[in-house]
Order: sequence, then structure tokens, then C-alpha cells
Amino acid sequence: MAGVALVSGASSGLGRSIALELADRGWDVALGARRVERLEDLAKQIEAKGVRAYAQSLDLRSAPSIDGFVAGVSNALGPVELLVNNAGIAIPGAFSEQSVEEIRTVIETNLTGTLLLTHAVIGGWEGDETRRTIIFISSSQAVDTTPHLLPYGASKLAVEYVADGLRSELRALNAHVLTVRLGVVETPFRSAFEKGRALAMVKFWQEVGMGSPNRGGDRMAPEQVARAIAECLVKPMNPFVELLDLRN
Ligand SMILES: NC(=O)c1ccc[n+]([C@@H]2O[C@H](COP(=O)([O-])OP(=O)(O)OC[C@H]3O[C@@H](n4cnc5c(N)ncnc54)[C@H](OP(=O)(O)O)[C@@H]3O)[C@@H](O)[C@H]2O)c1
Repeated sequence: MAGVALVSGASSGLGRSIALELADRGWDVALGARRVERLEDLAKQIEAKGVRAYAQSLDLRSAPSIDGFVAGVSNALGPVELLVNNAGIAIPGAFSEQSVEEIRTVIETNLTGTLLLTHAVIGGWEGDETRRTIIFISSSQAVDTTPHLLPYGASKLAVEYVADGLRSELRALNAHVLTVRLGVVETPFRSAFEKGRALAMVKFWQEVGMGSPNRGGDRMAPEQVARAIAECLVKPMNPFVELLDLRN
């Protein structure tokens, strides 16, 4: 057994692919998201690979949900050695047109929720010989300022900042912190975008002479991205890899 991994946002897209890839490599996997039926189906697939799975509701916008989830994982599977902060959401729209609730939703999910989940997991870590890893899934939009996605880009940039700081703070705990910065991945991520807003966003990018984030290339498959991430975890891990930047 490779250890116990916790994947947030495992009900869909990249999180689902990461969970399956980790299970293939011998990790027991805790699956968190709001759509529990999807997690339960995935847990069955993972258990069929001969490792353990734990599927439970996790809402990153609720501190009690985060605490309850982390306690449940550690009771069911044992201490978490690998945290994959994957869950995330984007809501497109010119900043002046976004509602307060939309801005809050993005920041509370991608930033506050990710920080609280990380805080809850590392609270259980002690200074022993166990090797631990935290992965933060970020976006090229953290560094390529993208109009009409400002709260999203800001949340990802802030998460990268926290990752950099934690790398130093957690050195004594044998923890490796990896930021994964992604271009465009073929997942349901954009399917929730309101059509009019999505079209207005692309039109605005064209008007100001910005290229699209996928730079005309094919979108990356989530399985490809999951494999590249898992390769960074091959033991003994190389603690000097701080950023995996995958662009299409
Ligand atoms: N797809 C891309 O092109 C792309 C590019 C760069 C970065 N990323 C990042 O990759 C990560 C995964 O996204 P994806 O592309 O796989 O999109 P996705 O298919 O839409 O998956 C997003 C996941 O986040 C979960 N989630 C959303 N709100 C949540 C909440 N409040 N609490 C718990 N979980 C929540 C969703 O689960 P529930 O709805 O079931 O809760 C879902 O499992 C995100 O952080 C995204 O920013 C994606």
C-alpha cells in the first residue's frame, strides 16, 4: 500500500481521474465532494482495484463539513499522507457584473475552503519520519491575468502563495508541497458557465487582443494530467519539484 490520499472534488473531471490513478498506484483514497452518489460509484471502482476507498460529502464552503470529513477519513482509513486540493469552481463575467454571491462562491470554495481543508489535515500531522505531500491544483490564470475570470484567477494566485509559504513552514514535518498549474483540461468545468457570460468573455478577449488560454491547442485529457501528477509522487519523491506547469 502506498498510503492514504485525500482528493477533494473527486466527483468529476480531474479529481476523479486523480483518484483512479492513485488507486492504480496502490493508494487508499478518500473522496470528497458534494455529489455523494458519484463518489459512491467511484469508490466501488476504486475498491475493485484492491485498495480502500472512503466516500463522503464534503462542502468546502462549510467549516463543519470540512472538519467532519477529515475526521471521518482518519477514522476510516488512518492518517492522510497525501492531500490533493483539487476542488474548484469558476464563474465567468465582467467583475462589475458579477454578483456578491458569485464572488463569494468562488473565493470561499477555491481559497477559503482549500485553506481550511489543508489546515484540518495538517493539524493531525506530527514530527515523525512519515513523508507527506500536499498538492494544490492551480491554473495558468493565476499568472496570466484573465479578464472576466478575476475572482477565479485571484483565488488560484493566492493558493499558489500559500503553497510557497507552507513549503517552508512544513519542512520540519517532512512535507513536500507541489503546485500544479494547468492550462485547459477536457472536463465538465466549463459546462456550468452561463452561455451568455461565456460568449461575452471570449468576445472581450478577442477585442483586447488576448489569446484564448488553450493557445489553439487541444485540451489536455484529465487522465494525462493525473498521470503526470502521480509521476511526481513516485517514491522516493524529489522534494525539489515545486511546480508542475502543464500547458496545452
Ligand atoms: N478544466 C480546466 O481546464 C482547468 C484548468 C486549470 C485548472 N483547473 C482546476 O482543476 C480543478 C478541478 O476542476 P475540473 O476541471 O475537474 O472541473 P469539474 O469537473 O467541474 O470538477 C470540479 C470539482 O470540484 C468540486 N467542488 C466544487 N465546489 C465544491 C464545494 N463547495 N465543495 C466541495 N467540492 C466542490 C465538484 O464537486 P461537487 O460539485 O460534487 O461538489 C467537482 O468534483 C479545479 O480546481 C480547477 O480550478 C481546471
